[in-house]
Amino acid sequence: MKVKCLSVIIFSMLTFSSLAADNKNDLASFHKSMNGCKTCHALPNKVSDSETFENKQCKSCHGDYEKLANPKLEIDPHSSHLGDINCTSCHKGHEQPKLYCNECHSFKGLDMPFNKAKSKEPWDKGWDNEAINKAIAAGPKETTDVIVVGAGSAGFNAAIAAKKAGANVILLDKAPFSGGNSMLAAGGYNAVGTVQQKDHKVDDKIEWFVEDTMKGGRYANDPKLVQILAEQSADGIKWLESLGANMDDLKRSGGARVDRTHRPSGGLSVGPHIIDVLRKASDKEGVDTRLNSKVVKLVVDEDQNIVGVVIHGKHSGHYMVAAKSVVLATGGYGFNKEMVAFYRPTFKGMTSSNNITSTGDGIELAKAIGASMTDIDWIQAHPTVGKDSRILISETVRGVGAIMVNKDGNRFISELTTRDKASDAILKQPEQYAWLVFDNELYKKAKMVQGYDHLGMLEKANTISELAKITGMKESALENTASNYNRYFKQGKDEEFAREQMPLPLAKAPFYAVKVAPGIHHTMGGVAIDTKAEVLDIQSKPLIGLFAAGEVTGGVHGYNRLGGNAVADTVIFGKIAGANAAKHALNTK
Ligand code: FUM
Repeated sequence: MKVKCLSVIIFSMLTFSSLAADNKNDLASFHKSMNGCKTCHALPNKVSDSETFENKQCKSCHGDYEKLANPKLEIDPHSSHLGDINCTSCHKGHEQPKLYCNECHSFKGLDMPFNKAKSKEPWDKGWDNEAINKAIAAGPKETTDVIVVGAGSAGFNAAIAAKKAGANVILLDKAPFSGGNSMLAAGGYNAVGTVQQKDHKVDDKIEWFVEDTMKGGRYANDPKLVQILAEQSADGIKWLESLGANMDDLKRSGGARVDRTHRPSGGLSVGPHIIDVLRKASDKEGVDTRLNSKVVKLVVDEDQNIVGVVIHGKHSGHYMVAAKSVVLATGGYGFNKEMVAFYRPTFKGMTSSNNITSTGDGIELAKAIGASMTDIDWIQAHPTVGKDSRILISETVRGVGAIMVNKDGNRFISELTTRDKASDAILKQPEQYAWLVFDNELYKKAKMVQGYDHLGMLEKANTISELAKITGMKESALENTASNYNRYFKQGKDEEFAREQMPLPLAKAPFYAVKVAPGIHHTMGGVAIDTKAEVLDIQSKPLIGLFAAGEVTGGVHGYNRLGGNAVADTVIFGKIAGANAAKHALNTK
């Protein structure tokens, strides 16, 4: 396998690290020797939790990421799907740098400047009840209308909707960057009745969207929430477009009867694109976004009505902010190994495609004040996470034509079936992995595949039999599979597995394969909500002032989510939660 090692990467700043050897070998000492602490800080002992001033200083000297990205390098963290995140996410002032990319990838040999600095204790060491109680006893330091917890797609959409409705909004995220798990969304956004579907002559109906979603969720979904998802899906696309997004490309996802997954044209992944758009839109609206700010407690009065939250800020410590409305948009728990093992013991130890931020915090916060949970133990394993990595090989690859075979080279299920069925089928294979196989036509068509190649994940060969040799499959089996599949393609009928759509044959060399296995991808269960995105207590009554949207909630997806429905969920219910949170806060003043 072609492994592109990052040892070749030399940051423009790398040369500084040898200069820094005379200092304490950390970024701060090096910069201090130039012009004192004010090189980086306005007031060194008053750093905001978001480290906003410090990050502006980085950019004012070094330029923005576009300038820092070295076009000669094959992989450069300064031009990644994470977008323009805080410089201090990776470059720490007084301690060892941390390459966030390595939380998902395993880039070896990346020599970051000042990497010999001393590492520090993490500022966030979990819940500190004494500090929480003290912050509550001290009373609120600030008051706002709406607090949104979690700055992924659901959080941004809620914050923007609340701001547009006239509320003052504080958006909080525990990470040093915004974007959450949404930033990794690769597939798209399911919508019915859009201009895009009309342009592509796709005949679709709200009822079909509802039926597909209910069937995919094994009819365990809340039909009222699914109806909203379908009915408001086209408006959600228009809303994103009004904020600056491009959602012009259309494809089909597993379990959908027509092409209704909207994505940016030109092959961009949906998550990074919409997060980039939402970050800018939220700044433009004047949302007060605070990073490195973990909500550790929802504060309620004697009637269980929301009155605010306690925040643990990286630099400011524990403090309380009062608000009439709080929106939970903290995402799922797919990266919380303990929660996965507790709720679904059979998935214990399984890899996860999720961002490290997906630790189920919102579920714990809501449970602590008596929220009810819906389908909390339903977890989706995505069938095609790169084997031995955390990189999702998007369903799009099968959607645009890849076939899936077992270790011998035989197909064993329709590639376009729902994720639960595909994952189960792979886990029933003795080795519990599969290969996605495709040709050069698909490689050229799907930009994301070129990204996987870039990461060294693909095997490549000039013939099908050579591909079988390289991957350890049986030559005759893979050749048979390819020739049968090409016949099905020609006749428009898959005689073995009734695959509904075969956009491409396996015809044009070179041929490619990528090894995949199931990985935790989505947690369908979460806090129970009603159609206004109000969080419900165990008697199914709203907890006044508490709203939730996105993966932290349960009910929209039933037991199994369809590809493309998560992004739609975050946008549609994020908007609903934000608008209703604003309404509640402004009306109860
Ligand atoms: O496979 C994927 O592209 C995932 C999409 C999704 O989770 O919606």
